[in-house]
Amino acid sequence: MERVFLSQSEAQTEAIGAEIAEGFQGGDVVLLYGELGCGKTALVRGAARVLGVQEVITSPTYTLIQPYEADGGLTVYHADLYRIEEAEELFEIGFEECLFAGGIVFVEWPQIAADMLAGLKVQTIRIEKTEDKERRITLIKNGHEDTGS
Ligand SMILES: Nc1ncnc2c1ncn2[C@@H]1O[C@H](COP(=O)(O)OP(=O)(O)OP(=O)(O)O)[C@@H](O)[C@H]1O
Ligand SMILES: [Mg+2]
Repeated sequence: MERVFLSQSEAQTEAIGAEIAEGFQGGDVVLLYGELGCGKTALVRGAARVLGVQEVITSPTYTLIQPYEADGGLTVYHADLYRIEEAEELFEIGFEECLFAGGIVFVEWPQIAADMLAGLKVQTIRIEKTEDKERRITLIKNGHEDTGS
């Protein structure tokens, strides 16, 4: 099932993230696709807030996976795989482990992990820049991005 949202601002993208996250639970893996600066981190920030993360989520330069404490003993993981060059590195940084740790895992730039993610139940979010500040945000519930391959 797909749901489409339109956003006109960063704040609105955060709010959409919050709305989408209401349906998430421990064990969920959420893949975020979209070009640089399209608002993936903004969406995760809104989602994390509604899940009870107190810290404000940013894009750390060197941390590839950042855990955050959320409500009810839940851990929210924010992974950004942009800088990963080889799929083998995913094991070294503990990415596979974090997929099965029972938390909610948000993954920016998940393409490099395609093989690892292939058999998993995931939630997929695609963000497209339509105009300067406008974004089309598509949620694919319990499904992978159709990569055409
Ligand atoms: N409708 C919008 N939604 C989200 N961000 C927007 C919107 N309009 C403008 N922006 C701007 O776009 C940028 C989005 O940055 P953000 O870090 O969330 O992107 P990202 O997709 O995570 O990028 P990266 O791939 O580099 O991690 C911010 O500077 C934000 O102010
Ligand atoms: Mg980002």
